[in-house]
Amino acid sequence: MCGIVGYVGPRNAKPVIIGGLRKLEYRGYDSSGIAELCGDHIEITRAVGKLGNLETRLVEREAWSVERESSPHAPRSTPNVGVGHTRWATHGGVTEENAHPHISMDGDVAVVHNGIVENFTELRRDLQAEGVIFTSETDTEVIVHLIARYTKQGLSLETAAHTAFKLLRGSEAIVVISIKEPDKLIAARIGNAGGVVVGLGEGENFVASDVPGILEHTRKMVFLDDGDVVVATSEGVTFRKLGSAAGETIQKQVHTIAWDPVSAEKGEYRHFMQKEIFEQARALTDTIRGRVNFETGQVHLEELNLKKIPARIYSVACGTSKNSALVGKFLIEKIAQIPVEVDYGSEFRYRDPMILPDTVVLGITQSGETADTLAAMQSGRERGAQVWSIINAVGSQAERVSDGFIPMRTGPEIGVCSTKTFVASIVDQYLLACALGQESTDDPSTDPTQLGSSGQAHKRRTTARNAARELAHLPSLVSRLLEANPIYEELAGIYHDREHFLFLGRGINYPIALEGALKLKEVSYIHAEGYPAGEMKHGPIALIDENMPVVCIAVRDSVYEKMLSQVEQVRARHGIVIAIATEGDEQIAKKADHVIWVPQAPEMLYPVLTAIPMQRLAYHFAIRRGCDVDQPRNLAKSVTVE
Ligand code: G6P
Repeated sequence: MCGIVGYVGPRNAKPVIIGGLRKLEYRGYDSSGIAELCGDHIEITRAVGKLGNLETRLVEREAWSVERESSPHAPRSTPNVGVGHTRWATHGGVTEENAHPHISMDGDVAVVHNGIVENFTELRRDLQAEGVIFTSETDTEVIVHLIARYTKQGLSLETAAHTAFKLLRGSEAIVVISIKEPDKLIAARIGNAGGVVVGLGEGENFVASDVPGILEHTRKMVFLDDGDVVVATSEGVTFRKLGSAAGETIQKQVHTIAWDPVSAEKGEYRHFMQKEIFEQARALTDTIRGRVNFETGQVHLEELNLKKIPARIYSVACGTSKNSALVGKFLIEKIAQIPVEVDYGSEFRYRDPMILPDTVVLGITQSGETADTLAAMQSGRERGAQVWSIINAVGSQAERVSDGFIPMRTGPEIGVCSTKTFVASIVDQYLLACALGQESTDDPSTDPTQLGSSGQAHKRRTTARNAARELAHLPSLVSRLLEANPIYEELAGIYHDREHFLFLGRGINYPIALEGALKLKEVSYIHAEGYPAGEMKHGPIALIDENMPVVCIAVRDSVYEKMLSQVEQVRARHGIVIAIATEGDEQIAKKADHVIWVPQAPEMLYPVLTAIPMQRLAYHFAIRRGCDVDQPRNLAKSVTVE
């Protein structure tokens, strides 16, 4: 959701904050704002729309303040404490008044916030009864007035913040600055509404909602857990648990982030989405590197801490990660023969999932901060499951609450639509399937599938080892696919004005049809449906006519013949067939209106190859339609509210 960057130190805070917000704009982009301590007051600048609008405002203001400061009587100040915010609206429309930071009535305290204050109505009522006048419709504004209530009573900023935070219900990340105690930032994480990362510098310190916002300045980071409050000055940082006695500090682990800050830049590419699509061969090399012994076929997943093979797995995820989990189900059931169920993070905890002994709940989440996925993982734990995760963002909440995890190692993903992390998470589930399969045993107490004979366990181990070896060629197949520059632009030119698209796939490529439809919807705003091809005849077939483009994933796998007959059914209704097919397949070339070729691959690796044309199609359609590919309307990269 919202992006936050705070700075305390000797530098001018503004460029540090604006530079950081630019890296985090993917988290929310309907409005933005910045608060700086300027001598004897807090200066707030806010603007509706993209960050560029805020920058324009700041430039105008700067010109004005230079003029003012050139007067002999004007106080000169160098702001060195400040906090900025990009918003993704939850409470209150997209207006300048609702943009953060919010400031107290006396102008002494400013706050930015990510999350939802669930009891804000009653808190607002109490504050209004005390004479507070609200200037926005946001839930956030109660926080700043509460803190001001306590500083006015003579409490220190830290104690006032703790006292106010304790009154809040819900999940939040909050950063506070005050004119009363300059050279100080206070930040808190309450619940799972998005991370707070503290960056440790030399004579300066930073806070942010996400690593890329401050990675340019330091790689030494501390991640706040639920209930942690940090006080950062230019000299150092201290951590306390919310509501603990003053002076009762806690120690936090300092992580050194391996990401190269340059990997969070667009470089030669026009868009992050484009860059991240083209980074996929490298991303897969990194996620596989050092984990597979290609001679023996052994897989080692260091951070997973695999001690016991689970009897069943529940994968929980949202959006693109949920589609990846559906591919993972095929992989884990096929290779390791362990049953897998997949559920939306937002649904899992609202039913009564059967958590039998030896169940693992596997959270798949690029950001590691998606509130629904985190809540599902938590619900799994409460029901007695072990919790694993597959994450990209190092140090994220999902990683920290897991018993074991698999890092995707793709580097930061900035484009709001997941691309490289989708394929990396598929490959990580493939590695997981191999790691589980290779440990297969006949002991009925550890062999939940009860397949019995040693022959079957041996078979599973062999399947796992062979599958692991197949990964050796995957990055080069992906490179080849990315080098080819076939007909995406041409297709976008012909079909960009269609209102609907259908995506069909079968078997292990059925989730890729779902992902293809999701991608097109997300970035080009064309309505699209993904369907298991065999289900087409039970409904979607009614939609097919000569105006309906149908993307059919018909690669040479075990359901190829079935897919061919589906293609025929589309043709019989005059639908437009865009086939994703295996290089050299003449049969499909005769049947389809257009073909996008992918290299031949083992069946279980096809989803990685068929996913990439889906991403490129969506990208080119969005460009053709003039959409903002990296920041599609209404979406956010990291959804930290329910
Ligand atoms: C948001 C993003 C999607 C993403 C989903 C899950 O909705 O816009 O692109 O797939 O969150 O994110 P996660 O970080 O949990 O994988």
